[in-house]
Amino acid sequence: MRKIGKILSFTVASCAMVAFAMPAAAKDKAPTPRQLVKQYCRVCHGPNSPNGEYTPMTFIQDQWTDFFANTYKDAHKGVVDPHHNNKKVLEEITPDMLKKIEKYMVDHAADSEHPMTCG
Ligand code: HEC
Repeated sequence: MRKIGKILSFTVASCAMVAFAMPAAAKDKAPTPRQLVKQYCRVCHGPNSPNGEYTPMTFIQDQWTDFFANTYKDAHKGVVDPHHNNKKVLEEITPDMLKKIEKYMVDHAADSEHPMTCG
């Protein structure tokens, strides 16, 4: 009985942490779009990555827009991220985060005013 109690309270505590840690972190210190790209894209698409290296400059603006609208979901369906507790990429990156990442990629695409190689 005591053991079950312990397991239960642990589960409750960790769920609460997940529930509250995210909004609090977002409010206190929201990651910049650049940090989002680094933490959620570059970890799998750095130099020599078997998944292909992608930087903002890999594509022109129209290609990035097209990628996020049509290819992103299919390309990452079922892909889990070992850098983030093996969560599914499509679940760990929220729509809000993805919007910021897309804007960063477009703003720094190969044909943008400020092309950038590093994410
Ligand atoms: C957990 C690792 C992981 C993360 C995180 C990740 N990707 Fe990928 N990505 C992959 C894999 C695996 C593929 C499929 C590679 C293949 O088909 O050979 C892929 C494919 C792609 C492709 C090629 C799609 C195509 O078919 O033309 C692009 C572009 C891409 N990812 C960009 C991104 C961007 C932008 C982010 C951040 C929002 C991101 N990826 C996050 C693993 C990841």
